[in-house]
Amino acid sequence: MRTPVVMGNWKLNGTKATVADLIKTFAGVANDAANVDVAICAPALYIGQVESLATGSKLKWGSEDCDVHTTGAFTGELSPSMLKNEFNCTYAIVGHSERRGYHAETNEVVAAKFKAAQDNGLVPVLCIGESEAEFDAGKTLDVCKAEIKAVIDLCGIDAFKNAIIAYEPIWAIGTGKTATPEIAQNTHKGIREFLKTFSAEVADGVRILYGGSCNAKTAPELFSQADIDGGLIGGASLKAPDFTAIIEAAKANA
Ligand code: PGA
Repeated sequence: MRTPVVMGNWKLNGTKATVADLIKTFAGVANDAANVDVAICAPALYIGQVESLATGSKLKWGSEDCDVHTTGAFTGELSPSMLKNEFNCTYAIVGHSERRGYHAETNEVVAAKFKAAQDNGLVPVLCIGESEAEFDAGKTLDVCKAEIKAVIDLCGIDAFKNAIIAYEPIWAIGTGKTATPEIAQNTHKGIREFLKTFSAEVADGVRILYGGSCNAKTAPELFSQADIDGGLIGGASLKAPDFTAIIEAAKANA
């Protein structure tokens, strides 16, 4: 049985005041969600504040990206070792489609970030997913497989024993067009079958989250699908009642 994960991705949103409000609320909600892993990935500037407020609760936290380097002449970058050792992050999202798209991160760069995160004790959350054109062309699984294969080539299949995959169709992110439970389940199943060609044990154990306009209304049916192990939540993780309802949906399927 895989423990469900509900992870917020705040992107470039928030103020010190909203961070304080939301983290206090979510720490309490996480404490009441015994069988669900709850986490918030926050803008880098707020990670220290999240750490102060969430320490001692069941709520975990992480970054929205990390660099491949730990220290040195890399102006503006986010060190995986600092995230882990200085701010006690559990997770680092890598390969979000907004990073791939706006910052030209290739599959190889994302794989290197995955490796750097893991080598420094963070659990990488590998985001994968196709564009609308690729979906229309029936290329969803080809895209997802290539994004995963780059990581397997660099890190080996066993790296997924301590990592999370987030399937996020780009056409569903921030658009309100949630993938139907059938579409999402089919893709998640295909991803798991692909992993199975490398290792049945890894395929069976890895948590695969759905992301893309997942909200309080759509989460219950999505989370009830056999291969969907929770969600990576953007917009709805900035609203306390919505994120709380999504955690409740995961609890019902834990
Ligand atoms: P959304 O974002 O829930 O706002 O669609 C999800 C994500 O980008 O991780």
